[in-house]
Amino acid sequence: MGAAFAMAFLWLAVCLTPVSCLLQTDQDPHPVIKNLRMDPERKRMSWDLHGNVSQIWCFVNSRRVHKAQNNTYCKFAHIPCQATNYSVSVTQGPPFSGWIQYPKLEGKARAAAENLTCWVHDVDLLTCSWAVGREAPRDAQYHLYLENLHSFQKWPCSQYRRDEWGTNVECRFDDLSVLSPELNRFSVNGSSQESPIPCSEITKTLHEIERLTAPTITSAWCNQTYSIVQWQVRSHFREDFEYELEMQQGAHLEHKQTEDNFLKLSNPGTYTVRIRARHTAMLAPSWGEWSAQERFVCGRAPLPVWLTSLLIALGTLLALGLVLLLCRRYAVMQQLFPPIPHVKDPISDHLQNERMMAWEEEKQQECPVAEVQILGEK
Ligand SMILES: *[C@@H]1O[C@H](CO)[C@@H](O)[C@H](O)[C@H]1NC(C)=O
Ligand SMILES: *[C@@H]1O[C@H](CO)[C@@H](O)[C@H](O)[C@H]1NC(C)=O
Ligand SMILES: *[C@@H]1O[C@H](CO)[C@@H](O)[C@H](O)[C@H]1NC(C)=O
Ligand SMILES: *[C@@H]1O[C@H](CO)[C@@H](O)[C@H](O)[C@H]1NC(C)=O
Ligand SMILES: *[C@@H]1O[C@H](CO)[C@@H](O)[C@H](O)[C@H]1NC(C)=O
Ligand SMILES: *[C@@H]1O[C@H](CO)[C@@H](O)[C@H](O)[C@H]1NC(C)=O
Repeated sequence: MGAAFAMAFLWLAVCLTPVSCLLQTDQDPHPVIKNLRMDPERKRMSWDLHGNVSQIWCFVNSRRVHKAQNNTYCKFAHIPCQATNYSVSVTQGPPFSGWIQYPKLEGKARAAAENLTCWVHDVDLLTCSWAVGREAPRDAQYHLYLENLHSFQKWPCSQYRRDEWGTNVECRFDDLSVLSPELNRFSVNGSSQESPIPCSEITKTLHEIERLTAPTITSAWCNQTYSIVQWQVRSHFREDFEYELEMQQGAHLEHKQTEDNFLKLSNPGTYTVRIRARHTAMLAPSWGEWSAQERFVCGRAPLPVWLTSLLIALGTLLALGLVLLLCRRYAVMQQLFPPIPHVKDPISDHLQNERMMAWEEEKQQECPVAEVQILGEK
């Protein structure tokens, strides 16, 4: 009874030490692994080995990740800021498994910022947004940090957007060029007077979260037989893009994918095109924004010969008809209103000319006066 109490006390003492909390799943009095612990600086989980085992595996959140080095430790690429379950299991030798949580969960897990997502947009900007944790205390406030996981350099974010209760829910970095495009940790930690708020994080490279802007057309040229359009996409990261074109020629709609940054068409006629881009050298690249639809009018395509002949024939007929009609009318008019003989009167003709000139002079003088009056009224 006393021994059991002492064991429980010992167990409690181990659990209360900040970096280690060993929980055995087997009730083995002589476990092969003891004192499971995390060293966050060296990113190592290690333990004391007692006995003969030939293989040990390490797990993160129950996912098998590494075989132990020298059966005494596992090294991780990255230690997340949120509480994570690290476990070990002896796979060859006496059965054993155990786990620790690092860092220890403080406060309610659902007080942490939720659904953290970050994206690069409009070439130079980086924005992260998150939702206030469903169990966050009323006075919770969140802050976003970006940390390069190679150099460990950190950048606090400063341009926050708040929700209606004044809690930060979005933040923007205005200048990507000062940040590192390598693997980054985006973490949102929280503070409150009421209770501790756990941290949330995601790790991404900047290029994999880039939402490409719409391609801009840099040159376009066309005539009746031939058309060429060129475009470009701006990005701070990669240059290898793939494009999707949506072209409409008359009623014909066509989608086309290409790695060229130009489009050549023969006998283009009138067509519209819009373009979007995505990064190629990525696993699941998503498409960027569509460009505005551009319309090109490149002369009419030559008509087929039969249609040309038909049109010429029709045109001739029409012209002939018109001529006939006009002749008929002229004949009728002449019969109704025979022309009145006109005697040329040099004096009155001359006077009329003079009056017209005088009137024109008057009009020209009047105009500036009228303008002055209007201006004066205003
Ligand atoms: C450890 O176990 C292996 C076989 O699993 C055996 O060959 C070896 O002698 C043992 N070593 C010790 C020190 O018990
Ligand atoms: C941690 O992982 C181990 C192994 O997958 C599991 O047995 C244990 O219940 C987990 N602990 C928590 C708190 O989820
Ligand atoms: C492997 O572990 C043994 C003790 O179990 C230790 O003496 C030795 O230095 C370790 N080797 C490495 C490379 O860590
Ligand atoms: C987070 O996203 C999930 C899935 O889209 C959604 O169900 C959940 O409500 C979101 N959380 C918050 C706090 O908005
Ligand atoms: C949040 O994290 C940053 C950077 O890791 C740290 O400087 C800051 O003190 C943390 N704030 C809180 C409230 O934990
Ligand atoms: C259109 O331009 C191309 C290339 O400059 C030229 O070869 C072609 O003759 C032009 N067509 C017409 C109808 O002007």
